Amino acid sequence: MLDLSRREFGGIVFGATALAAMPGCAAMPYNWGLGFQTPQDNLEGELQRISGRLPADLNGVLFRNGPAQFERDGVRLGHWFDGDGMIQRFAISDGKIRHRAKFVMTDKRRDEIKADRFLYSGFGFAPPNPKALKSANDLNAANTSVIKIGSEVWALWEGGSPWRVDGDSLATIGRKTFPGEVDGVPFSAHPKQGPDGEIWNFGGFGNRCVIWQLARDGALKNATLIELPSPSLMHDFAVTKNHVVLLMPPLLWSGGGASTLIDQYSWQADKPFQVLVMDKNDLSKRRLYELPAKYMFHMGNAWEDGDGVIRVDSFMFNDSRFATNTARELLQGQYSAPPESNLTMVTLYPDGRARLDALSGIGEFPRMDPRRVGHQHRYTYGISGSGVARWDWKTGRRSRYHYGADYWAEEPVFAPNPNRTGEDDGWVIATVLNTRKARTELSVFDARHIDAGPIATFACPYALPLGFHGIFAAA
Ligand SMILES: [Fe+2]
Repeated sequence: MLDLSRREFGGIVFGATALAAMPGCAAMPYNWGLGFQTPQDNLEGELQRISGRLPADLNGVLFRNGPAQFERDGVRLGHWFDGDGMIQRFAISDGKIRHRAKFVMTDKRRDEIKADRFLYSGFGFAPPNPKALKSANDLNAANTSVIKIGSEVWALWEGGSPWRVDGDSLATIGRKTFPGEVDGVPFSAHPKQGPDGEIWNFGGFGNRCVIWQLARDGALKNATLIELPSPSLMHDFAVTKNHVVLLMPPLLWSGGGASTLIDQYSWQADKPFQVLVMDKNDLSKRRLYELPAKYMFHMGNAWEDGDGVIRVDSFMFNDSRFATNTARELLQGQYSAPPESNLTMVTLYPDGRARLDALSGIGEFPRMDPRRVGHQHRYTYGISGSGVARWDWKTGRRSRYHYGADYWAEEPVFAPNPNRTGEDDGWVIATVLNTRKARTELSVFDARHIDAGPIATFACPYALPLGFHGIFAAA
């Protein structure tokens, strides 16, 4: 039974807190701004093999999403998270890789092409003479991540609906509609799909939040409106076998007359970072934890031990400056060292105690073997400066491959070996922008030996804008 009223969200705009930091790149000697330039639409090309060989068992498609429209009519966008989404499709088969890219034709993009200007105040950018909003979906940029649903990919934002895209041609099919009053309400960019195929997600604004439950084919099973203990701006969440876990940093909605979403929030370092744990079968069964103020975009995974202890790992910052400052400065050509984040385990005990334990080595974009979603994992992969790294929760060690200071590393994605079942039986696929050669490259690593470097490297014939999140869909 749906107990959510769309009217609850009427007139409220919830923007795209995409991304994360690119820490550790304090000195970019080459054309670092290359990743924030608007590409042409409908890109098609075959990647050139630079070194190594693709594994014979690695066949499928890497889909990625990210902002890609940065100017209109001479106006430069003022915040990275507001760019229209472009889907990248890297098809890996028979030792070759073919690339295709296309913008998601959202209502926002169609309206702005027609008007030949930016129309709406969004997450962090307000254009001249902004147009009034009828709903949050008016400014849905569909620019943050993707999930594979049958033959489609859904381009996800966090303040509105998924946008359906054909997984082969990348042609936009239309906005995903859900039955009843739940249609059009926020569906975040970080759904979790466990080994059973069931999809969980959250979406919300202020102290209201929807918990979504979908079947593997995207059909709605349930959507429940809940009240949060604080109006935190959340970007990601986690699930265990039996629980939903919300990490709520003290970046809190304070209203006011600011024209952009992020300016309606304020970082309140004197307030706790809260963690809300809810029973999947009864969301009213809750535990609330409080920890010292931290900011986080992304979680890796969560699981529960037999003794009722819940663990969730996340890259944690000391404050929210990346979202409020850095992502603006990058688009304005200002490069300053981004704030740093460390991979941190949050341990939540049944008696209400909680603790944080950080590993060394800065990083962001945590990913893990998708076969372990909701279950204990040992390895977390991510970017670390201009490189790719693997953190081992058993030994506490990080192994890392460093491309070089003139590279921007993007989120690495784990592709399981279809013929093996071990947690690190698979490959890590990483896209990276080579600013010296002005091209995007794709590297494949043996997941067990990240520090040995890529086992295969391919190069696109062009540079792509830096994106946020991807998935690997096995053939
Ligand atoms: Fe994200």
